Amino acid sequence: MENQNKTTAKVIENGPLVIMGSIEITHADGTVETKETRCSICRCAASKNKPYCDGSHREAGFVG
Ligand code: FES
Repeated sequence: MENQNKTTAKVIENGPLVIMGSIEITHADGTVETKETRCSICRCAASKNKPYCDGSHREAGFVG
């Protein structure tokens, strides 16, 4: 059975690094909230929205 609280990072061939998992946020009043999150981090340096992938790796012809 897969651990649902595990945070993972997956390299997409010729694309971004995709991070998926949960994050625990502690607010100033001490309450704790858990959020599921997913983000794509640019590996090609062509994104106009760094550090996030904006799909520019396709136009840039990124291989990696
Ligand atoms: S990896 Fe997608 S824009 Fe760089």
